[in-house]
Amino acid sequence: MEIPISFSTVPFLVIIFLLITRKKKTLNYPPGSLGWPFLGETLEFLRAANKEGKPEKFVRERIEKYKSNIFKTSLMGETMVVLGSASGNKFLFSNENKQVTIWWPVTIRKILGSCLITTVGEEAKLTRKMLSSFINPDAFSRLYIKAMEVVGQDHFKNYWEEHIEIASAKKEGEFLSWDDIQKMKYSWNVISEVMRLTPPIMGAYREAIVDINYEGYHIPKGWKFYWNTALTSLDSEFFPNATSLEPSRFEEAGPAPYTYVPFGGGPRMCVGKEFARLEILVFLHILIRKFSWKLLIPDEKIIYDPMPTPVEGLPISLQPHNC
Ligand code: HEM
Repeated sequence: MEIPISFSTVPFLVIIFLLITRKKKTLNYPPGSLGWPFLGETLEFLRAANKEGKPEKFVRERIEKYKSNIFKTSLMGETMVVLGSASGNKFLFSNENKQVTIWWPVTIRKILGSCLITTVGEEAKLTRKMLSSFINPDAFSRLYIKAMEVVGQDHFKNYWEEHIEIASAKKEGEFLSWDDIQKMKYSWNVISEVMRLTPPIMGAYREAIVDINYEGYHIPKGWKFYWNTALTSLDSEFFPNATSLEPSRFEEAGPAPYTYVPFGGGPRMCVGKEFARLEILVFLHILIRKFSWKLLIPDEKIIYDPMPTPVEGLPISLQPHNC
């Protein structure tokens, strides 16, 4: 059957066609490739972190290729927008529950189950508030510092038996106090510098909860975001001689905002940051007081699995002081 097309229907069809094509043109998606069906670019992403130990490499290569700090990719079965800049970090950290929300890949959600890391909205706010009452300076002073020092000392007794004699011959001194921890400024600068060079967490994810227009790009609701920790912390624009260890970078005002984010930022920033600081400083204090040490493989490779892991297990030679 023939459908007659009159002269009056032609302009109508042209208008419809123009409307459809115009809508498509105005939606300017970020540049990038979605890679292979389903796999996307997941293998390249994992290879950079796990085989090469440089999780930021995947991001940096694409930023250079597309000449854009924002690009799209497909990771773990999800269309994902990578924001590779300090302003991208700022956008994600300051828009929680407004334009984005926390999101983790299904494998991580399965491992973690239902906990603060995986919850969103009001439930997350409430859980954070509850947790804060166990992880604050008062609780540290009352509950944790002494226990950490005891456990740390036991650790050395158990694992380096040849040193038991030296350790037990020492008089038991006073335990560390919260004030002592605050005085360990240089040690914390060294630790911060180590975390700048090798961030313990590669990055984290968000989900767009509304259609987003970011730097002129359209990001539809439901797409995921990824930010990478080392990308800005190893950027020589923010950290001259970016690969050399210089703890003085953390003196005075320290790094520019949103460039050094090993603990994330904004309302979903790591809730255990102060606890981690305490734990690391107490451990370091015991180690430094009792031993000097030497790396047996100075340039040992570190891979992300998914956290930084020295491939040979970080063999060291320990020398007790006073021997
Ligand atoms: C050096 C050690 C640690 C580092 C580098 C670290 C880093 C991070 C990062 C990057 C996030 C994600 C932030 C985001 O998505 O924006 C996070 C979240 C979190 N961390 Fe840590 N973390 C450390 C230690 C700890 C410790 C010791 C605890 C527990 C006492 C802890 C508990 C949490 C929790 C519960 C969250 C989820 C917070 C939320 O989603 O509201 N972390 N951490």
